Amino acid sequence: MKVLVTGGAGYIGSHVVLELLDQGFDVSVLDDLSMGARENVDERAEFFLGSILNPEDNAKALEGVDAVIHMAAFKAAGESVENPEKYEKNNVGGTLTLLGSMLDHGIHRFVFSSSAAVYGDPQYLPVDEKHPVVPINPYGQTKLDIEGKLENSYSDRGIRFASLRYFNAAGYDILGRVRIPEAAPNNLLPIVMEAANGTRASLDVFGNDYETRDGTGVRDYIHVTDLAKAHILAVERLEKSSSFTINLGSEKGYSVQEVLDTARTVTGMPILANITGRRPGDPPKLVASSQKAKELLGWSTKHSDLESLISSMWEIYKPAEATF
Ligand code: WQD
Repeated sequence: MKVLVTGGAGYIGSHVVLELLDQGFDVSVLDDLSMGARENVDERAEFFLGSILNPEDNAKALEGVDAVIHMAAFKAAGESVENPEKYEKNNVGGTLTLLGSMLDHGIHRFVFSSSAAVYGDPQYLPVDEKHPVVPINPYGQTKLDIEGKLENSYSDRGIRFASLRYFNAAGYDILGRVRIPEAAPNNLLPIVMEAANGTRASLDVFGNDYETRDGTGVRDYIHVTDLAKAHILAVERLEKSSSFTINLGSEKGYSVQEVLDTARTVTGMPILANITGRRPGDPPKLVASSQKAKELLGWSTKHSDLESLISSMWEIYKPAEATF
């Protein structure tokens, strides 16, 4: 079976490509390299440089493809507040162009990279798929808009979809095959890694006065390899089953302070952190229920404990051994 991964040069996308190849799939990648790294695309995949906004680029990349895993998107919640049009055009417009190209080519299986950002502020924990969806930033709104279009219009046109709502993706390939870390990261774990390897002098902890066990924010971190495995299970399920929407999280919550403590132990580095004010829009705690993914896919996490997440990242971020 041949699968197209859009955004396959990206942080999560490059791990999905690896997992597909490791499991014997043929893989094409379409990426405009606006964020991803070409070096992170495994050479076993066929690479197409191009944009999901261009039907001609889509047509080339869709040749011989049986299913699409769509990961090409902008994903910085903060940036989406500054520039919502950029997110609307690329995330929503790009996805609709891609879906049109898929229908032109008679391709109906579609795995969509959605996000916990569709939930907005949690009204109860853990968050399950019945939780109200009230995004609090344009990024999350684009994800919800696409989910709605899949549900309400593309289903009638034959698209069978799996919308996968990621919680906080982290970690790197445990065999160290994805070598180029994200540039200018916005998320906690890569920022902690940059503070550990000296790329930045320190990091800010956005508030330590939350109603959590140590006052810092708690999130549900999930290893990218665990995420990738769920994508393959979703592609396979769509061969015979109807569309579905599921959370992908570890169901474990770790605080910023726990991340820092573990990172200092794993790396042996001081990792300077300054306590600052809360970041607007941050909920104190966000943890997934992934029971539906377990039931539908028989999926569970294997690499998403905090030590595995951080040690797999440190393999990529640690300075090269000084060779004298
Ligand atoms: C995690 C925790 C921060 C940076 C975002 C998107 C979401 C999804 C995942 C794509 C919070 C704290 C962070 C820092 C800090 N993206 N923090 N200092 O906000 O949970 O989710 O990424 O789907 O849509 O919103 O992730 O990594 O930014 O923050 O103290 O420099 O770390 O307050 O508690 P977040 P994050």
